[in-house]
Amino acid sequence: MDTRPFLIVAIDGGAASGKSSTARALSARFNLLHVDTGSFYRAVTAVLLRRGVAAHDPARIEAEVGGLRLGTRITGRSAGMEINGEVIPDAEIRGAAVNGAVSHVAALPAVRAALLAYQRGQEGVARAGGFRGLVMEGRDIGSVIFPGAACRFFLHADPAERARRRALEGGQDAIALRDQLDSSRKAAPLACPPGAVAVDTTHQGLDEVVALLSGIIAGQLGE
Ligand code: CDP
Repeated sequence: MDTRPFLIVAIDGGAASGKSSTARALSARFNLLHVDTGSFYRAVTAVLLRRGVAAHDPARIEAEVGGLRLGTRITGRSAGMEINGEVIPDAEIRGAAVNGAVSHVAALPAVRAALLAYQRGQEGVARAGGFRGLVMEGRDIGSVIFPGAACRFFLHADPAERARRRALEGGQDAIALRDQLDSSRKAAPLACPPGAVAVDTTHQGLDEVVALLSGIIAGQLGE
């Protein structure tokens, strides 16, 4: 049996700051469940849009979100959200309609409250799946979801560089607008949490960022 402590790594940052690629690499290196909370907000938004709910209709969103049955399906090392038994396809959750609506939906306290326990519950999912810990990425992981995480990071990069990265991935995404909405909202705004390690990824490649974070994590683990 693995008697080493369960490790929680929190990575926050703005759109296209490098969170997902970094989290995936750390997940493989340390055998951590990769939890992309942005994909959760995106999946919920996609289901609301399917039902014809407008992103600016808080009462309707609140009513619908309360009725969703949320589960988790692990694929490889990643946790995917099931809504009423379905994993919403990637093309749909990363499409232009969701890009345009997700930050409005995610700004609502009722939505954040509905996802809070679900996100914390990923610790149990990771333990049951035999992972050594989890690496969770989002906007409020080190501040709200797991403020006591052993390792908390905040990734940032110049807006022009982030726009370039997102354009390379294809698709339509007004990341500056989402960042502005995410940073200015009242509920869990995007910000570097006190005590987190801030990393500027503008001029650093993925390998360098992963090496830096891995070193800190290994130090924390005493390896
Ligand atoms: O991949 P990208 O950085 O573009 O965004 P994402 O991580 O997929 O998150 C999509 C949106 O979900 C963000 O712009 C936020 O509005 C919201 N979100 C949030 O509010 N809190 C989180 N923990 C994660 C995402």
